[in-house]
Amino acid sequence: MKPDVASVPQHIAIIMDGNGRWAERRHRPRAFGHRAGQKAVRESVAFCLRHSIQVLSLFAFSSENWHRPEDEVGALMNLFIRALDREVDELDQQGVCIRFIGDLDAFSSPIRTRMQQAMQRTQAHQQLYLNIAVNYGGRWDMVQAARKIARLATDEQLDPASIDEARLAGLFCLADQPNPDLLIRTGGERRISNFMLWQLAYTELYFTDTLWPDMNEQAFEGALTDFQLRVRRFGQTTAQVTAGA
Ligand code: FPP
Repeated sequence: MKPDVASVPQHIAIIMDGNGRWAERRHRPRAFGHRAGQKAVRESVAFCLRHSIQVLSLFAFSSENWHRPEDEVGALMNLFIRALDREVDELDQQGVCIRFIGDLDAFSSPIRTRMQQAMQRTQAHQQLYLNIAVNYGGRWDMVQAARKIARLATDEQLDPASIDEARLAGLFCLADQPNPDLLIRTGGERRISNFMLWQLAYTELYFTDTLWPDMNEQAFEGALTDFQLRVRRFGQTTAQVTAGA
């Protein structure tokens, strides 16, 4: 792989954190923060379109989020339904290709149907690939890849000795897209929280204390500027990278 000095990322992944605290600081229910977070989702899409960033991956609902209080999970599900009803038209007009990643079987059929319709309707678009991770976990992604490869080996379509990184990489979610160049996590925590574990191996990490609903154009520009100051080494020395080895 040719190392490059970071310029515009091809793929930005985001862990959108801090909706609950944003609402609590305003003495409002947590669901109020999730609704406010939708505006920042729109802002992130607009930012990527403006900068010709090809791929945006948003962690909207982790496999662990089902354990939240029932009313909060219910409010999030209603929000997803409303967002799918309201936002898909505009995303379609903007040329955004929507893809949901994760174990979609766990969702109610009204949500699953809307997700499938949104994916089908926008599948030919190329302005921006918007991946929305729902009921997703990086370990789940690894498990489903392991199942696929075990099935191929059992069916004798694959020699286990021939399994290498490239073969395995092709079985993860988003195998047809470049890995994230930049991961943004808002809300002050500094961890990956089981998001895209395989795909983040060489990703630049950017953590900000800004709560997700407060993310605006200026805050996204700040993350991009920080990324552009980094030298991506992919295991080489800085001298090798700057000499263009
Ligand atoms: C994390 O904040 C956020 C979530 C679990 C949900 C993210 C959902 C949205 C931004 C809504 C819109 C999304 C789409 C794609 C339509 P938190 O609740 O963990 O915040 P806290 O850490 O302050 O408690």
